[in-house]
Amino acid sequence: MKTLLKNKWVLITGASSGFGAAAARAFGTEGAKLLLGARRMERLKKVAAESLKSGAAAAHAHELDVTKTSNVETFIAWAKSKTRTLHVLINNAGGAHGLDTVAAGKDLDWEAMIQTNVLGVLRVTRAALPLLPHDAGASIINIGSTAGHTAYEGGAVYCAAKAGELQITRALRMELNGTGIRVGTVDPGLAETEFSLVRFKGDIERAEKVYEGIHALTAEDIAEILVWVASRPPHVNIDELLVKPVDQAAMHKIYRRKN
Ligand SMILES: NC(=O)c1ccc[n+]([C@@H]2O[C@H](COP(=O)([O-])OP(=O)(O)OC[C@H]3O[C@@H](n4cnc5c(N)ncnc54)[C@H](OP(=O)(O)O)[C@@H]3O)[C@@H](O)[C@H]2O)c1
Repeated sequence: MKTLLKNKWVLITGASSGFGAAAARAFGTEGAKLLLGARRMERLKKVAAESLKSGAAAAHAHELDVTKTSNVETFIAWAKSKTRTLHVLINNAGGAHGLDTVAAGKDLDWEAMIQTNVLGVLRVTRAALPLLPHDAGASIINIGSTAGHTAYEGGAVYCAAKAGELQITRALRMELNGTGIRVGTVDPGLAETEFSLVRFKGDIERAEKVYEGIHALTAEDIAEILVWVASRPPHVNIDELLVKPVDQAAMHKIYRRKN
């Protein structure tokens, strides 16, 4: 039988935009109770309000920076003040910084990608694990990427980081075997969010070019999948889910329409 999400506590990192914000609204539609984290509080509060409108039984927002252990611990302490039981943890906070070759790479970009996509997932998971009940259909869902499966020029560190996320997911699944806690990764291809705007440091024109002529995935496409993964019957684990736009047959095989 399907796992019902009504009144279940769902924690989403990086909920201020893109997949995280859409996931908050989608879990809200299921009547879940939400704990939302990101650095931009104004955006986060707006998402919490939208989630309540879409049907969330509760929606709370708190500042979170996954690059800092003390900040993550403060965030999880806050989460514990709301609930002792977390049903779904979505490790979504992350992204790419720059598209430089290794030869031209910048330390700050490299560090930001490893700090968020790799260490951030580890920090949040370690802190939140005691809240996940055993044998109750609880789920940890990490957001990976096709970049974790296939390398591309200028993507060395982002690809390494998402490959790291994939291996963390696989190791964690084995570590938690016997607890009934489900562990999986959802790995999208090209999706039109603020991802490219962040990667290109606010250069809108360059960001828009990434999606030119493609019918890219939307944040809502991913949110729908996350709800589906979390609502499978408790004995069903979606290990790894790779999802790409039809126009993206492979990392470098992209069909772009002319108009
Ligand atoms: N869009 C794509 O094509 C694509 C494809 C595959 C995978 N992904 C992955 O999907 C996830 C979500 O990305 P998105 O596409 O939805 O992009 P997005 O719109 O830029 O969202 C990224 C989210 O991560 C949060 N975040 C970034 N750094 C953070 C930090 N240090 N601490 C806490 N939160 C942080 C951001 O919030 P604040 O800035 O407010 O902190 C934001 O809410 C990322 O892990 C990304 O790598 C994206």
